[in-house]
Amino acid sequence: MLKHRSGYMPPAYLVIAAHLDISIFDDQTLVTTRLELTKNPDAGTGANEMRLNGRDLELKRLSIDNIEIAKDDWPLDDAGIHLTNLPESCVVESLSVCHPETNTALEGLYLSGGMYCTQCEPEGFRRIGFYPDRPDVMTIFTVRIEADIAYPQLLSNGNLVETGAASEGRHFAVWHDPHPKPSYLFACVVGDLECAEDNFITASGRDVALHIYVEKGNVGLTGHAMDSLKRSMKWDEDRFGLEYDLDLFQIVAVSHFNMGAMENKGLNIFNSKFVLADTNTATDTDLHRVESIVAHEYFHNWTGNRVTCRDWFQLTLKEGLTVYRDQCFSADTHDEGVQRADDVSLLRAAQFPEDRSPTAHPIRPESYREINNFYTATVYEKGAEVIRMMAAFLGRDGFRKGMDLYFKRHDGSAVTCDDFVAALADSNDIDLSGFARWYEQAGTPHLSVKRVAGGKATITLDFEQTLPETAAKTPRNAVPIPVRLGFLDAAGHPVATSLTPDGVSADEHVVLMQTATHRQSFHAASGGGDVALTPSLLRNFSAPVVLADDLSTAERLHLMAHDTDRFNRWDAAQTLAADAIVAAATGGNSLDADAAALSGAYRNILGEADLLDAFKASMFALPGVSVLESRLKPADPVALYHARMRLQAALGDGLADIIATYLKDDARHALQASDGGRALLNALLMLGVAASSAQAEDIAAAQVLDANMTLSQGAVMALNNSTSTARDVGLSAFHDRWLDNPLVMEKWFQMESMSVVGGTVARLKTLMQHPSFDPNNPNKLRAVLGAFMSGNPVHFYAEDGSGFAFIADCLIDIDSRNPQISARMVLPLTRMSAYDDRRKAQMMAALRQIDNAKPSNDLAEIVEKTLA
Ligand code: PHE
Ligand code: ZN
Repeated sequence: MLKHRSGYMPPAYLVIAAHLDISIFDDQTLVTTRLELTKNPDAGTGANEMRLNGRDLELKRLSIDNIEIAKDDWPLDDAGIHLTNLPESCVVESLSVCHPETNTALEGLYLSGGMYCTQCEPEGFRRIGFYPDRPDVMTIFTVRIEADIAYPQLLSNGNLVETGAASEGRHFAVWHDPHPKPSYLFACVVGDLECAEDNFITASGRDVALHIYVEKGNVGLTGHAMDSLKRSMKWDEDRFGLEYDLDLFQIVAVSHFNMGAMENKGLNIFNSKFVLADTNTATDTDLHRVESIVAHEYFHNWTGNRVTCRDWFQLTLKEGLTVYRDQCFSADTHDEGVQRADDVSLLRAAQFPEDRSPTAHPIRPESYREINNFYTATVYEKGAEVIRMMAAFLGRDGFRKGMDLYFKRHDGSAVTCDDFVAALADSNDIDLSGFARWYEQAGTPHLSVKRVAGGKATITLDFEQTLPETAAKTPRNAVPIPVRLGFLDAAGHPVATSLTPDGVSADEHVVLMQTATHRQSFHAASGGGDVALTPSLLRNFSAPVVLADDLSTAERLHLMAHDTDRFNRWDAAQTLAADAIVAAATGGNSLDADAAALSGAYRNILGEADLLDAFKASMFALPGVSVLESRLKPADPVALYHARMRLQAALGDGLADIIATYLKDDARHALQASDGGRALLNALLMLGVAASSAQAEDIAAAQVLDANMTLSQGAVMALNNSTSTARDVGLSAFHDRWLDNPLVMEKWFQMESMSVVGGTVARLKTLMQHPSFDPNNPNKLRAVLGAFMSGNPVHFYAEDGSGFAFIADCLIDIDSRNPQISARMVLPLTRMSAYDDRRKAQMMAALRQIDNAKPSNDLAEIVEKTLA
């Protein structure tokens, strides 16, 4: 059944208070929900009815105002309890049974590695107990948890108010959360865990206890997460004036989790992969990831929890905004330029392809069958880009004023994206109505910027935007596109220009394009003369669009060498590399010349003393196959992959002498000492091995055994696509070393799956029989199958379609246990618009095979959209 955004109806009743009683036994869990209801004054007249959602629950008792309802009269249907003819106010109590011990979907209450935990967002609460499970019903929860004393920890949201013994070797705890919240933010954890403790004093002097709970033996791996948490708390105070609002903040790490982490009020639950990390078991990239996810979940306490979503169509209200906030935090904590390059890489690799696919949707979708399918790169990453454009438009202070007004108006309530934009607009007395279109239209706008022939000291640019048609069939009206830009002279220096002949000169301008076409002239300040000016367009990626400009290769090399905007230096390199790879993939013979030009540019960059190593390293990251595909029609991922490898080898050859210098003992040890240096070293090692340098291979082979995981994994990755025995030796050394660490073994699975040399379908089948593989653990599925699809194009997109058929078989099996995961993992099979007919037909056949197997609602929505 399809739900529509326009179909929103306010709830007829509000919940004044909710009392939960959860009693866990080995073979079942008893749940009582006692709800104090009162008619919603805003719901209009009429209906005295109320839906209590329930899924796969066995109802045992139902009473209204303490009067038992006879079983024969229970108003039960597939979706739960449908109460009618209710009085103005009443107390409804239900007792039901659920089965965490057999729950493999990892929604609701489930067992993970011997502990009980919950996942309620978006609609998991209804698998725990009968409740109006919708985000606009916010209430104050009191929760009693009871379990065997073998589980010392009985955790929930808010404050612990009572503990005690219960009957026969059992005990209980009562928690009270003073902040009203929707059911999706409820959490409970029952287990035998170890706890890392610390504290944080907020700006107004509240002493907050910080607890991170992990499986026994892992407490030594929580330091980085704890430190990240404290820095996030401080940052939100400094940047947005937002303080934490309880005396306790808890994080629990669980091994079985469908997503990254969850912002339950005062009790965040994390995929253990994003908590447990030190420099021996996690790479620098992993550590950044942990930090940004800890920050993201913490930031949700205000953007998501204090102010939440009215309905799930508004998901980007909290997710786009919170991603934007965690990106800002990371940029402030590390390097802004590197951060922007990383964020845009992800957007291009994951969101742009989604926007071209059968599952394309606006950041605020218009309809859905299964809301779980809308936790997407579009809602998250493109949603963050939309916030970023408005924030840039308002400026730092203006955006802060907008955020302040948003909380002033809406604290404690469930609101819409329109409410958010209105707060930004009203607080700045500015019209943002154009930006509203970014919420309702799917598709990545194409922006063309071309120079118009003209005078010497004046450059005129023609801007044109086109909105592609997408599967979502949403309107295609012009959107506001802020284009940040500047000009460089022949020496690479910024040239000030003005928008009118005698206007104010500046090195940089923002042209806000409001219509489909726009023409703008720029007048060079004194001395413009005959110099050739190179435009630097869409600086810092000021809008999430595909840019087509008229720059020559020489001009791009000029930007790569000199632009003051580091994002554009990086992006010039991306475009040059993509041009070279696409030309090589289509049989052009130009790779040598392109590689020589790029090598020269890289050589200069390596020599720049005041450029950060981290930034240099990011310059070497070649665009991935999913990004390159958009440049070629029909796209051939296998040919693109091979061309990309050839460019890597050619760059390794072109830079052989300088790589050799960096790999010498002293220089190498110097690089090993910092995270930026390690990133650069790994990038150079990768090029060296690609070019078959014996020195690079030897160093990589030795570095596999380094105690530092960034160096160790970087070395295995460098060897991973080489046919030399060093690859096998390295991978098995890595395997033997980490066999008893399930999280690090995920890296081994991933590298095995991604190898063009070893990662065949046959190999994947044996990996899935490995004792460290667990078919019920999403991380393991992602490490083997996810990595194969995104990182091993040669075998996944194999000519004979064997990769697709294999994945289809796996997905049918996974779907019977965990529909959220199967529906997410099927997405690569739906990204076929650019391929040739043969490959498309093979992918469609794989999808038909899935469709014939009667998939879950989650998986069916995606598959059927694609087959339609
Ligand atoms: N709300 C979580 C986040 O973005 C993501 C999530 C969604 C986790 C659904 C679990 C289930 O932080
Ligand atoms: Zn989030």
